[in-house]
Amino acid sequence: MTARILVVDDERSMREFLQILLEQEGYQVVTADSVTHALSECTTALPDLIFADLKLPDGSGMDVLSWACEHAPDTQVIMMTAFATTENAVAAMRMGAYDYQMKPFKVDEIRELAHKALEKNVLLRENRDLKAQLRSHSGLSRIVGRSPKMREVIELIEKVAQTKTNVLIDGESGTGKELVARAIHEASDRRGNAFVAVNCGAIPEQLIESELFGHAAGAFTGANRRRAGLFKSADGGTLLLDEVGELPTTMQVKLLRALEERAIRPVGEEVELPIDVRIIASTNRDLHAMVNEGRFREDLFYRLNVVRIRVPPLRERTEDIPMLARAFVIKHGQGHGSKVVGIDGKTIRALIDYGFPGNVRELENTIERALALASGTTIGLSDLPPEIRGSSESSISSILEFPEGGIDLEEALNAIEMRFIRQAMEHSGGVKKRAAELLKLSFRSLRYRMEKLHMDGDLAKSQMDGQMDGDDEPGEQ
Ligand SMILES: Nc1ncnc2c1ncn2[C@@H]1O[C@H](COP(=O)(O)OP(=O)(O)OP(=O)(O)O)[C@@H](O)[C@H]1O
Ligand SMILES: [Mg+2]
Repeated sequence: MTARILVVDDERSMREFLQILLEQEGYQVVTADSVTHALSECTTALPDLIFADLKLPDGSGMDVLSWACEHAPDTQVIMMTAFATTENAVAAMRMGAYDYQMKPFKVDEIRELAHKALEKNVLLRENRDLKAQLRSHSGLSRIVGRSPKMREVIELIEKVAQTKTNVLIDGESGTGKELVARAIHEASDRRGNAFVAVNCGAIPEQLIESELFGHAAGAFTGANRRRAGLFKSADGGTLLLDEVGELPTTMQVKLLRALEERAIRPVGEEVELPIDVRIIASTNRDLHAMVNEGRFREDLFYRLNVVRIRVPPLRERTEDIPMLARAFVIKHGQGHGSKVVGIDGKTIRALIDYGFPGNVRELENTIERALALASGTTIGLSDLPPEIRGSSESSISSILEFPEGGIDLEEALNAIEMRFIRQAMEHSGGVKKRAAELLKLSFRSLRYRMEKLHMDGDLAKSQMDGQMDGDDEPGEQ
């Protein structure tokens, strides 16, 4: 959507100057010559950014600023004046102006200022939308990301939530399996009862049975009192068996029996207790492979795997990264005293380019750490750990991104050409003839291109290497 800018100045030449300049930048511009006129434009044009002169015939630009602060908090206001006094500037900034500019201005400064102020406006708006989304109580809305793959997951959650069937969630570590399990519970009519999660890998083998099924008083040493167990705690609700692949074989048999009978028998007791629990199992292992290897019971596998939800790794849905990153800025920054409102464009690019082997959890930790390091109001590249920062600096996708201020096509194409030539040279161990083959070029053509691109260093290096392996003279023609 085109950004809308309101220019308020009683001087006609100033209005026209700013209007032409800003329209050239692609913004939609409306103008006003007084406070009254400005406020009426504010309510009809809903500007994203206002340039307001301090001195106006019927009042002050501060009146426009105070109106905006109260009624349109996302709208950024830049105050302008020919007679700057520090008091005025300080007062305007205190009231919430984005910046304070002295006339006459430099064209470049105005462009830059408008661009930055609008960036902040967009961030604030997006943050508010996200916050509203995160605040709503449904577990589904806490799942950030609407890539096609996550849409599929969400659809499955909605479908399966209506039923009583067991669900198996699998996915790499940190992909959000527990979040999905909670969302299923919260979208189901069991939401009024408990959601209980147990990490099967974290409980000592000899304690698992009593943890899950409970035990009678005196059932074993240390069992002084009767205990209900997690199945009972989750009665009427949902039990998440996390890391189900870690269950010892003896326990697998007992679990299968409980699922088939819909009843449990606490350790040391005679009678079975009926239970009504939806089981969600999750794993980051390949359970099917474990079945084939005889490490996981096949019958239990099929009991659990009635519906299977695979949570895709983050690298398969990189389009979710910007939204997730912003959601984590809100989750860990705002409200924890951080001034950071967003992440700058280059940094988002770097996050997208990085593979995130640790998936969403790693992204979340990265943002949490960057929030602690960031000194300004946005997270920048220098706030990222080197392994993430590095993946973008050389990335071709950052070249292919169309920049705000236009692009020098010739230079960009040269950069791409240079990058591929360097890579081919690396692959060929510096042997130009081989590099030319890899690039489907003739030897001469490669040499011509390298000269044209002033890749003198690379050329000299390859010639030296070439001499050593007799490659200096082209073998072709
Ligand atoms: N789509 C998402 N939207 C918002 N937050 C997410 C999303 N996916 C994961 N998270 C967050 O990432 C962190 C890890 O998620 P979760 O614990 O659900 O992953 P997991 O797959 O269970 O990991 P593990 O296999 O290590 O147990 C949590 O803080 C979770 O809130
Ligand atoms: Mg988990």
